[in-house]
Amino acid sequence: MSGNSSSLTVHDKTIDFPVKSGTIGPDVIDISKLYGQTGAFTYDPGFTSTAACESKITYIDGDAGVLLYRGYPIEQLAEHGDFLETCYLLLYGELPTGPQKADFVYRVTHHTMVHDQMNRFFQGFRRDAHPMAIMVASVGALSAFYHDSTDIHDANQRMVAQIRMIAKMPTLAACAYKYHIGQPFIYPMNSLDYTSNFLQMCFAVPCEEYKVNPILARALDRIFILHADHEQNASTSTVRLAGSSGANPFACIAAGIACLWGPAHGGANEAALKMLAEIGHPENVAKYVAKAKDKNDPFRLMGFGHRVYKNYDPRARIMQKTTHEVLSELGIKDDPLLDVAMELEQLALKDDYFIEKKLYPNIDFYSGITLKAMGFPTSMFTVLFALARTVGWIAQWMEMIEDPSQKIGRPRQLYTGAAQRDYPTIAQRS
Ligand code: CMC
Repeated sequence: MSGNSSSLTVHDKTIDFPVKSGTIGPDVIDISKLYGQTGAFTYDPGFTSTAACESKITYIDGDAGVLLYRGYPIEQLAEHGDFLETCYLLLYGELPTGPQKADFVYRVTHHTMVHDQMNRFFQGFRRDAHPMAIMVASVGALSAFYHDSTDIHDANQRMVAQIRMIAKMPTLAACAYKYHIGQPFIYPMNSLDYTSNFLQMCFAVPCEEYKVNPILARALDRIFILHADHEQNASTSTVRLAGSSGANPFACIAAGIACLWGPAHGGANEAALKMLAEIGHPENVAKYVAKAKDKNDPFRLMGFGHRVYKNYDPRARIMQKTTHEVLSELGIKDDPLLDVAMELEQLALKDDYFIEKKLYPNIDFYSGITLKAMGFPTSMFTVLFALARTVGWIAQWMEMIEDPSQKIGRPRQLYTGAAQRDYPTIAQRS
């Protein structure tokens, strides 16, 4: 590789490929003409060396532990900003002015109700349905309820769809929770801010007055900021791939939610808390660290490791601080799970296996303890992640739709199955 190009010799043929530089971060070799010029594909399962798109939204430096939304460090946004401001930033590229923010908050706030027929939709689920299953279905169903915002070629419909999703996601998430625990749905209250409204939809009941604790609301709002976007992770890539075919935005976000559910991705917060409960006591930690290191044991430390971060996940640091703030506000002095988590973190960070493989706590390590203390059951953890990540998915989807070079995503393969053969009659088969 030299200067602005890189050459590759395939089957005795040497071809030059352009090298492109971003604002920051590694260069990319543009191999889009590789197949046309050489007849060969690249092979990169898991996309470990592949940039699938150009983006201006989020930047991660995994070695340095840096996360920027539109250039702003996550630490500054989490400390000084709020979630809806972060949504505006991710969607439109700049922090809003006062009037822009007021207008955006007004628009989101006045789309929080869902079509009343959605209530019937929820009734179709079993009460023990996992709330993530309900989220995948209900967000997908929005395309049936809001057909007037599914034309992706109409800029106004795209804008209405993005506002609708950011606004209705807390309402749907709270309904999924209420349905799960057998309580009546609580309607949104537009006099409350975004996160306080979500808390009241989850924890209020019609027979009692409910006052939102502002410290918990602020903590949850910060958790939403931390989860808002994370460049081309599995669920975001799923949303982009689904959207590349021209599918409507509600269907694309439902696909993202389905992908997020997996324990290697957003499901890790639920899995991490279950793991801490299984470990049970700080004195058992060493045994579980040994299990995680054992090649013959499939057990992994949930909430540890990351494809991109080879350093402490910057979100995990903020989350750890938030955990302490929430526990202190709730007067929880001794949380056995927190004791296990701190011991586990300390032991793993000193262990050669974790040091060599650069495995550090990720955002999911501490988020479960915080959300549990706030009163959310483990089954809701990934739902909260989905609620917050919706804005990132939409911003990435919008960027893709508005990119004139956008094409349908269509990876190729290395085929290792049977070569062509003739159909045998049933009597010829052994
Ligand atoms: N515990 C023990 N060993 C681990 C762990 C772990 N949590 N994570 C990775 N390793 C080992 C793995 O066994 C492998 O070892 P070897 O090279 O000897 O085969 C090496 O580290 C590299 O792992 P990998 O699976 O090839 O790495 P990856 O980049 O494909 O996976 C990951 C990243 C996040 C899926 C993985 O670290 C993991 O499964 N972590 C636990 C689940 C988790 O916490 N996920 C949340 C990610 S952050 C939130 C989000 O983005 O959704």
